[in-house]
Amino acid sequence: MNVAILGLGVVGMGVYDILLRDVPDIKVKYVMELDQEKTKNLDVIVANHISTILEDDTLDTVIELIGGKRIAYTFVKQALQAKKNVVTANKALISDYFEELTELANENGVILRYEASVGGAINVLDPLLTIAKINHIHKIEGIINGSTNFILSKIFLEDYDLDKALEAARNLGYIETGTNDDLEGFDLLRKINILSMMSYGQYIKEEEIIRVGLDTIPREFYEYVKSKGLTMKYIATSEWKNNQIMVHLEPVIVSQDHFYTKINYEENIVTLYGAYHNKQSFIGQGAGRYPTASAVVYDLLKIKEQDHARLQYKNNFVINKNLNKYRFLVLKNGKFLKTESMTFESLLVDKEIQAFARIDEGAYESI
Ligand SMILES: NC(=O)c1ccc[n+]([C@@H]2O[C@H](COP(=O)([O-])OP(=O)(O)OC[C@H]3O[C@@H](n4cnc5c(N)ncnc54)[C@H](OP(=O)(O)O)[C@@H]3O)[C@@H](O)[C@H]2O)c1
Repeated sequence: MNVAILGLGVVGMGVYDILLRDVPDIKVKYVMELDQEKTKNLDVIVANHISTILEDDTLDTVIELIGGKRIAYTFVKQALQAKKNVVTANKALISDYFEELTELANENGVILRYEASVGGAINVLDPLLTIAKINHIHKIEGIINGSTNFILSKIFLEDYDLDKALEAARNLGYIETGTNDDLEGFDLLRKINILSMMSYGQYIKEEEIIRVGLDTIPREFYEYVKSKGLTMKYIATSEWKNNQIMVHLEPVIVSQDHFYTKINYEENIVTLYGAYHNKQSFIGQGAGRYPTASAVVYDLLKIKEQDHARLQYKNNFVINKNLNKYRFLVLKNGKFLKTESMTFESLLVDKEIQAFARIDEGAYESI
């Protein structure tokens, strides 16, 4: 099997290494990379133009690891149209263009896989396809952003204040300069969107998801939650009920005995709730060169073994942002208040609310 890697950055170089070292029957025939320093010592053809790769009939699969939605979108589309399989780790691209790219792959009889786009090293998407066939998945929940989990772990486990926790995350490169995707929740949104679409067999638009950024939570909010002996996690939830779907992500206050308090720093968890299996969780490293690269290689092996299930995205459930009600801790006019059950929408219209977090059932009595 011959492949081409587009983008030899953090993940791309990891994929190159693993294939060279451990997978002799998958040959990296081409790489495409802007930075010549990264390619000068490699024993591989460096393509200067995508057409070199796409016109090669011996090439099966294009691995897109450039990131973003501009050139990556163009290359992925062109590769599928040229009847090449595509593997990508690009959640921004997959979440936003899921329908178009899925249909394009099907029309061209090729495979599009994106295991590394959700939860880095956790291989959850592939089992999800099989699980969804037997169990009707009705809920998905997860901590699927390592940067924000790292910041919250620093605040609640090591007693860092917000600024020091942000600085620690920045120093380790967990918060990218020039983007606020992690703190504003866009990264989490893309991942829960991909999981939801695959679980429910339905295309969902990003704007149909309720997103509350972790950046909305001020320092005094953390202090208050700590003073009650509780902790906070940044959780994405997706639920299917009565043929309706609700997807949301927000900071959540949980008690110290909640299972998710064991998921700290860069670790991720995805929990799938199904009709027959009750619940099943997947835990692992959410990012990093080799964890992510191993999920990309996993996809390549699945393509090589021709073990790829195709889902039909035929459902048309109603997206209802008010499907569930929750209780919240709100900071309003400088005071902390517990609310009764209410919808996100009714909370969001109250302009006097400075910040809020959902209260998990097990934490309510402690506030
Ligand atoms: N890093 C992680 O832990 C992780 C985890 C999960 C998913 N992902 C996803 O994996 C993808 C890659 O992430 P990354 O961290 O590896 O990014 P990265 O380190 O920035 O790598 C991207 C590489 O693509 C190159 N590039 C940019 N434009 C190009 C073009 N037109 N043609 C060829 N190469 C080009 C860049 O070169 P220059 O540096 O010269 O611009 C860079 O080497 C992203 O979609 C990301 O969301 C990453």
